[in-house]
Amino acid sequence: MLEKLVIEGQHPLKGTVEISGSKNAVLPILAATLLTEGTSIIENVPRLRDTLTMIALLRSLGKDVDFTKNTVTVGGNKPLKHIAEYKLVSTMRGSFCVLGPLLAKLKKAKVSLPGGCVIGVRPVDLHLKGLKSLGVKFEVDGGYVIGDGPRMKGCQIYLGGVFGSSVLATANLMMAATLIKGETVIDSAACEPEIYDLGCFLSKMGAQITGHGTPRIIIQGVKELKGAHYRIGPDRVEAGTYILLAAATKSTLTLKNADCSQLVALKDKLEEHGVELQCELQTIVVKPKFIRRPTSITTYPYPGFPTDLQAQFMALMANTPGVSVITDKVFPDRFIHIAELNRMGAQIRREGSIAVVEGVRVLHGAPVMASDLRASAALVIAGLAAKGKTEIHRVYHLERGYEGMEHKLQKIGAKITRVKE
Ligand code: UD1
Repeated sequence: MLEKLVIEGQHPLKGTVEISGSKNAVLPILAATLLTEGTSIIENVPRLRDTLTMIALLRSLGKDVDFTKNTVTVGGNKPLKHIAEYKLVSTMRGSFCVLGPLLAKLKKAKVSLPGGCVIGVRPVDLHLKGLKSLGVKFEVDGGYVIGDGPRMKGCQIYLGGVFGSSVLATANLMMAATLIKGETVIDSAACEPEIYDLGCFLSKMGAQITGHGTPRIIIQGVKELKGAHYRIGPDRVEAGTYILLAAATKSTLTLKNADCSQLVALKDKLEEHGVELQCELQTIVVKPKFIRRPTSITTYPYPGFPTDLQAQFMALMANTPGVSVITDKVFPDRFIHIAELNRMGAQIRREGSIAVVEGVRVLHGAPVMASDLRASAALVIAGLAAKGKTEIHRVYHLERGYEGMEHKLQKIGAKITRVKE
């Protein structure tokens, strides 16, 4: 049954939002449990459609998985299967990161190609290039990549791509390298905090790994890995989304369980715009100031401004008088939200990988269509800031990445309800 969100805009928001565990950290960490027969316990796992998809995929590969409250336990001693099916991989690209662990563990894997999505073509050439360097032979048949690597061994790999480093290609390669002979050096590795987290989890499993979180990761293969106990850190994209939502609605909000140190690019840009972030331990207080300046951003790999906050930042700029320029260097086609924001009275035009935003004083509520996860969050922000009623259709995209969003918003005073279509 399709559902929509109905938002009455321009209600003042106030209070505290608890940030959930990081979706993008948990997906590769769940995939890493394939590397061992031991039992792993992962805490602070957000209950999202994407985490449920990864759990379904692990079960389909032979794992026993329990998900109680926010803790996932993965174990079981059934033999591992090597085929990751289309119906689970096609709904979520993150599923493709089972390829590395399956190859490490079974020396063979057959994983559905994830295909493109509305944010762009999203190739997997870097994943395959890296794994080929380790000695895997690939063929593509019936929409699947079939990898065979009986004699995989470590080597030095340059993993930089046209759009910079790749997060999930780095994850795939790190996991593949843990259980093979010799030393693997990954140069131009992704430096995202989620890769750092994966490295910490692999270390706890007994992997010999250094440099995770930097552009050079070094892995010394070991014979076997054991289960590990790990707590997932806060979701920086969810935190960033609530920060931008506070800025757009001119509300003072407190975020609990948030890590400001992972949001330096956003903090810097918001200071330029006119929003102060007060960071203390695991708490961020967002304080919009009276003056709001149009502010330009360009997305880059971490620690640059995250592409996963580009749409939400655009919603804020759409409602900030003056001209700002938004460039996406990571996903140059990630602009499907422009048309929907324009339906709310925004004035944004796209020129290639650049969006020129002529900010308006007031946005107006309208029926709009969610197209992907972060674009949906941008529409929620715009709807909360706009005058009148906004209806967001196809809201299921939000459930892929935001745990209990409407409940969190209702708690801080937002007029938002979920209605059956
Ligand atoms: C991850 C995140 C996603 C985020 C993205 C960029 C997860 C589950 N998803 O996706 O939320 O938006 O990082 O921060 O962690 N590329 C290639 N060849 C490849 C792989 C990637 O050209 O083989 C390109 C992509 O098309 C894109 C850029 O590299 O232009 C970065 O993509 P990548 O870091 O791989 O994104 P994901 O890991 O899929």
